[in-house]
Amino acid sequence: MNRTQNLDSQEIILTGDRATGPLHLGHYVGSLKQRVGLQAVHEQTILVADMQGLTDNAHNPKKVSSNILNVVADYLAVGIDPAQTTICLQSQLPALAELTMYYSNLVTISRLERNPTVKSEIQNKGFERSIPAGFLTYPISQAADITGFNASLVPVGDDQLPMLEQTNEIVRKVNTLAGCSVLTECKPLLSNAPRLPSTDGKNKMSKSMSNTINLGATEKEISEAVKSMYTDPDHLRIEDPGNVEGNVVFTYLDAFHPDEEYVNQLKEHYRRGGLGDGTTKKVLEECLQEILRPIRERRIEFLGDKAQLIDILIKGSQVSREKTSGVLFDVKDVFGLNIF
Ligand code: TRP
Repeated sequence: MNRTQNLDSQEIILTGDRATGPLHLGHYVGSLKQRVGLQAVHEQTILVADMQGLTDNAHNPKKVSSNILNVVADYLAVGIDPAQTTICLQSQLPALAELTMYYSNLVTISRLERNPTVKSEIQNKGFERSIPAGFLTYPISQAADITGFNASLVPVGDDQLPMLEQTNEIVRKVNTLAGCSVLTECKPLLSNAPRLPSTDGKNKMSKSMSNTINLGATEKEISEAVKSMYTDPDHLRIEDPGNVEGNVVFTYLDAFHPDEEYVNQLKEHYRRGGLGDGTTKKVLEECLQEILRPIRERRIEFLGDKAQLIDILIKGSQVSREKTSGVLFDVKDVFGLNIF
């Protein structure tokens, strides 16, 4: 089922990515591909979330600032068209920071601590003993991002569902205070594709661990990543029967190989025995090289013209400043603060 087909063309779409590293294949199957399909039909804005990126990188702000243009180049390289999609920079939209302040009064610390995504991130980052306030409260800032654009639809991975839930709680609180519908509740748009595992089969894909394949990966990096992919550890000799489930090479073949029938034949052969990991990896490598070559080339071209990338962000942020300040006005009105 293609979930995007049933959408109302009136939907307003807002999504974003933390600018903390180049985007990878997980982003591609999880969200980027969908955004390319949506842009022709819907009003779509993509936010480069530099402020959210700082919530756990304030000790190393360069990690954020140096990746802003990389992320924009990633968008353009996969086919996001700035003539159809507004691409803007979060820190250029002061209304979002102001909305965050107002919404902060409607959310308790314990509610933030219960957010499952924040909870697991706190563990992964070793923040248990001292959590930056900005990090704990980033779901509020994300609610500001979403409501600031009046977004009704948010294409995200399933790890972001708790953020949307918190957003809608804030929306309901504001609307209750107002006695009418000032803000719009949002719905997630989840990709049909199953979540892509990391190449080592262990962890969630992460921009900070070397278990991903970046969209800009070189031919050699792709080759090395595929060669080191996790397969079936009990598949010791070629003639042994092998396990396809949990075998990262097959998960990637399912996600990327255009010929499903052929992949099914490979799976049967592998299960039966007689098919080596070297062969399955070769098939996968060829397929990934073909998909990523044009993306890599376009990315290099876009990064060669930084002024153009900056211009896209300036124009997108200008349009977005107007939209978000309108919502800020409405929210201030709810609190009775538009007195002059
Ligand atoms: N939290 C998202 C991520 O981890 C980034 C993000 C920031 C976002 N603001 C958003 C996503 C608004 C959707 C909508 O990448």
